[in-house]
Amino acid sequence: MCGITASAGDGDAAQTLIDCLENLEYRGYDSAGIALSNGDGISVTKRAGEVADLRAALADGGPSGRVGIGHTRWSTHGAPSDANAHPHTDCTGRVAVVHNGIIDNHDALRAALRERGHTFASETDTEVVPHLVSEALDAGADPETAFREAISHLEGSYAVAMVVDGVDGVFATREGSPLVLGVGTGANYLASDVPAFVEFTEQVVYLDDGDVAVVRPDDYAITDRSGAPVDRPVETIDWAPEAAEKGGYDHYMFKEIQEQPVSLAQTIEGRVEDGLDLSPETLAGVDSVQFVACGTSYHAALYGAHQLRSWGVEATASLASEYSVYPPPMEDALVVGVTQSGETADTLDALSVAGDRGATRLAVTNVVGSTAARESDDTVFIRAGPEIGVAATKTFSSQVVTLYLLAREVASVVTDPPAAAALDGMDELPDAVETVLDGSRAARLADEYLGEDGHFFLGRGNGVPVAMEGALKFKEITYEHAEGFPAGELKHGPLALVTEKTPVFAVCTGRDAGKIESAIREVQTRGAPVVAIAPRTMTDIVEVADDALTVPAVHPDLTPILTNVQLQLLAYHAASSLGRSIDKPRNLAKSVTVE
Ligand code: F6R
Repeated sequence: MCGITASAGDGDAAQTLIDCLENLEYRGYDSAGIALSNGDGISVTKRAGEVADLRAALADGGPSGRVGIGHTRWSTHGAPSDANAHPHTDCTGRVAVVHNGIIDNHDALRAALRERGHTFASETDTEVVPHLVSEALDAGADPETAFREAISHLEGSYAVAMVVDGVDGVFATREGSPLVLGVGTGANYLASDVPAFVEFTEQVVYLDDGDVAVVRPDDYAITDRSGAPVDRPVETIDWAPEAAEKGGYDHYMFKEIQEQPVSLAQTIEGRVEDGLDLSPETLAGVDSVQFVACGTSYHAALYGAHQLRSWGVEATASLASEYSVYPPPMEDALVVGVTQSGETADTLDALSVAGDRGATRLAVTNVVGSTAARESDDTVFIRAGPEIGVAATKTFSSQVVTLYLLAREVASVVTDPPAAAALDGMDELPDAVETVLDGSRAARLADEYLGEDGHFFLGRGNGVPVAMEGALKFKEITYEHAEGFPAGELKHGPLALVTEKTPVFAVCTGRDAGKIESAIREVQTRGAPVVAIAPRTMTDIVEVADDALTVPAVHPDLTPILTNVQLQLLAYHAASSLGRSIDKPRNLAKSVTVE
């Protein structure tokens, strides 16, 4: 939701922190701030607005310091405002804190602190932390002990970083929210996610819940809550630092759409021959699969469930937030959390419910060291590389391919999938995607259907997740109304809305073409213009529609990926023509770490 960062180095930390915050802005962008410690007090600069506003505010020689913390915010407690922006300080201004997550017991802590004479400057849950630290300092504790004392009172999920006047280092900890340490030369860093500091170092330490890190310019130390040293390996990231840069494109989203031939090749590499390298226990005794996920990842999960059922394996896909309300029986079920970030609170909660009931949990995620990966019994990484645009694109494609491969492994244990299935065509998939990326036709159609009353996306079978994902992508970045649903549902309600002002995008993945064709005719009778999204060999569909976005003919199990790329391009070009904030759509953040 929010992004935190910290830097301790030889030079001035201000510029480094701003760079890190810009790299983290996809996590939240309604306010930003930094605090610097320079041996002569703590200076805080913060404001509502984007990181660019903060950069401008600091352009004319702002405060400096070797050590500092930074924050980019997406509001949960308290509206976006200068006062609610992080860092937050205690009454004396000698302690400054940034925080990502939610402190559940902040009301009680605040009330108790007020009774002891503390006054607060913001409405945030975070502000209790510097006050707790300050109290411990007043009681004679050294800064590290005061930090430990303060965090021992916190309930909820948090990643916290703190600077204290007179200390040449940053104190940090995590509990349920991500935090990674970057190990540089003459400088060390902290951040919610690796892209923040990857331009400075590729060496990272993934911190675990309960770890307390003290990060100084020349070294760092990690201990557990009791103060005992813990050993965490230093790892080199397995993607090129340039992957987290915009690389000449106007938007990360467009870059990430264009990267799909490469990201898919990474996802597939070695896995057609060698499988997903699941641990032997993961599939032992499994007779069914329950996917849990949110948003775009839920659409990938729908695809996975559909694929498994097509091979006779019982499978469901649930929205993670609903799964936990009345969890289904899960004896012998494999519960699969599909989550790009690995940090989505609803998905983590569903996985935790499944774990409490004894189910085996598998995480399918993009982020090494993420909470989903650490807390599940087994993990498959989708290997898409970093995705910065808030609207998920390349990670959806990589999730779909990964879930196809997973479905095949599960089916080969539970039933018997057909021997020669889409697996044979998997290696050609990246090239097939490449041919769809031109996007000029999608751009033309996006302009043609701009400003209509609504946009409907229909599909059938494995085209339903594509239709739903197409509508989600369209609405989240264009702010235009869009709905995606199974073609068969048209006559049960949505048809009432269909007019000549509601363009219909009909997804055909190669099966059940007859049903899609009748849906097309049904809406055309009401005057709606229809764009078919279909393999170019499906001439019946292409010809009956008013226009078409075609894709190469591949195995029908894999066509969803290609048709979805066309809809990504459609949404992108529509949003671009409308001048929307494509990489940072209003009210949304990439990683939703609150329920
Ligand atoms: C939409 C989008 C979101 C995410 C959802 C789950 O473009 O990105 O709908 O898919 O918030 O996020 P992850 O996959 O990180 O669990």
